Amino acid sequence: MSEQREPHIAQKSPYAVELEAGKQYFWCACGLSKNQPFCDGSHKGTGFSPTGFTAEKSGTVYLCGCKHTAKPPYCDGTHTKL
Ligand code: FES
Ligand code: FES
Repeated sequence: MSEQREPHIAQKSPYAVELEAGKQYFWCACGLSKNQPFCDGSHKGTGFSPTGFTAEKSGTVYLCGCKHTAKPPYCDGTHTKL
């Protein structure tokens, strides 16, 4: 099993997604998912696991695409420094 230290940068900008209040989502932390910004199971063997969270309200949120945010799953602007 290979250990991956740094997450893969899926894209250097956030993903704007529509979420539904009360629904649970799994944000891809490894950056390898083909279904960004959500986990599709591609993290297997990387040492990463998805960040599960429940949407508090319905509407658009900006989920981190660079995978280097300090506030997963949300974009915190870190992508501008990569
Ligand atoms: Fe990236 Fe699951 S595919 S965390
Ligand atoms: Fe990762 Fe903005 S996209 S911090």
